[in-house]
Amino acid sequence: MGYSRDYEKWRERLNFYAFIAALLGEGDIYVPTEFYKPLFISQVVKSWEKAVNSILTGKAPKQLGIFVFVPFCKSKCIFCPFFSLPLSSRSQLNNFTASLLKEMSLFKGIFKGVQFNTVWFGGGTPSILEESHFKKIFEAIFKLFSLSKDCQITVECSPSSLTSGKLKLFKSLGVNRITIGLQSLNKRVLMENNRLFQDIKYSLELLQLAKKIGIGVVNVDLMCGLPGDNFESFKDGLKRIIAMRPDLIQINPFFPSYETNFFKFGGEYPPTDILRRTQEAKTGIGFLEKAGYRKVDGANLGYARIPGVANQQEIDKVEYNSSVLSFGPASHAHAFAQLQYTNQYTGRNWNQKLLPKYLGIKLNLQEEMRRFIIVHLRKPILRAFFRQLFGRDIVESFFKELREIQGFDLFYVDNQKLLFKIRTRQEQLILAKHFFNSNYLYNLQKIRKVRFRKDKNYFSELNKLIDVTI
Ligand SMILES: C[S@@+](CC[C@H](N)C(=O)[O-])C[C@H]1O[C@@H](n2cnc3c(N)ncnc32)[C@H](O)[C@@H]1O
Ligand code: SF4
Repeated sequence: MGYSRDYEKWRERLNFYAFIAALLGEGDIYVPTEFYKPLFISQVVKSWEKAVNSILTGKAPKQLGIFVFVPFCKSKCIFCPFFSLPLSSRSQLNNFTASLLKEMSLFKGIFKGVQFNTVWFGGGTPSILEESHFKKIFEAIFKLFSLSKDCQITVECSPSSLTSGKLKLFKSLGVNRITIGLQSLNKRVLMENNRLFQDIKYSLELLQLAKKIGIGVVNVDLMCGLPGDNFESFKDGLKRIIAMRPDLIQINPFFPSYETNFFKFGGEYPPTDILRRTQEAKTGIGFLEKAGYRKVDGANLGYARIPGVANQQEIDKVEYNSSVLSFGPASHAHAFAQLQYTNQYTGRNWNQKLLPKYLGIKLNLQEEMRRFIIVHLRKPILRAFFRQLFGRDIVESFFKELREIQGFDLFYVDNQKLLFKIRTRQEQLILAKHFFNSNYLYNLQKIRKVRFRKDKNYFSELNKLIDVTI
């Protein structure tokens, strides 16, 4: 009897976690950015000095990445939740590049003795930058930071702005991985999603061209469940992409979050669309596996034709709680056990005299351990590895949280490992909230001006956003 009462209480708690998960969405990071406060540049620089010192003395993981966020696109796709602005003039790119270089120079001399093993240009659409901008940015990176010999350097590209000239330049600069966002190969779907800029024939030709020019790894992003799409056109698009044999194919199930224009313009995502998204994803996985592609880490539904081509920066974040030094607006930086922060958006016309405005939150070891467990819920956690990383035992550190869920068959633990019994991304996002600092869970409601209602089913709300079956 006691068990069923406990179980009822737990259901209610899970419903609350689902409510928070739906609020935070897919881009869920711990600590939520809602709790960030303004930081002085000197604070940020000092935190990096300390983090570098920890790396050098073996107290922080040596995995270290650079992230450069480029906030421009040709136009705003209806489905996209990411921060980006339609590019209005060339001078915007010049000013942006100048402000980026200025931001990079703030960290001169800080990273002595350590090497970066990944560089990621993300966005927005980094390929919208011109060759001259790439040259300047890479020159600054090479001058200020030391990259490891096998550093994975990725540029996110859109077919509308990627040219053979840029691909050749990438090759000469050491870019060894590109990801091309195709999203759909159906003209009507592209039109409906305000993606008129994409030429379908050229999109496919680019995959061959990139390989011919010698870019080591070519990844393609394709979306399923897109507004206006249907099962047949999705299947057709995927088949045509597989026929080009890119090294990696990532299927991204459409996530109709509140940041998208789809949501802002009042778009409905009814159960029939949710079902279609699930079917498309499942069928897509079937096609990929049949074509010899295998699931990789570092992406929700990422499938590779060959090993060793996955997104190393994402893998490092999950495996090691790695540190990431980031530049540009809306990028997320993390200095191990010191600080996590973002560079606040500073205006439409980047003024080269402007310094970055950082917002963030200090991290202590306890919060760093929470970050680790939250991203690690779907993977076995080796207790010895955890101890090596944090100097503590995971079961002792999360004794209270684990005891609370004991009896619900949610985890397995022995002397070697801790393993959560999680099957879906949705379950992961829900259980993750159990390991949040509870202050954040309750204060988030105040900040977002919404209230949890016991009588409401938030699991179905979350279903709308994230597929249960994936
Ligand atoms: C930051 S976007 C960059 C894409 C690139 N600018 C382009 O034009 O394709 C990275 C990836 O996020 C995925 N994406 C965009 N909106 C999404 C959404 N609402 N739900 C899930 N994935 C999404 C797309 O597949 C896209 O390739
Ligand atoms: S999908 Fe790419 S091009 Fe479209 S708005 Fe998002 S970042 Fe920009």
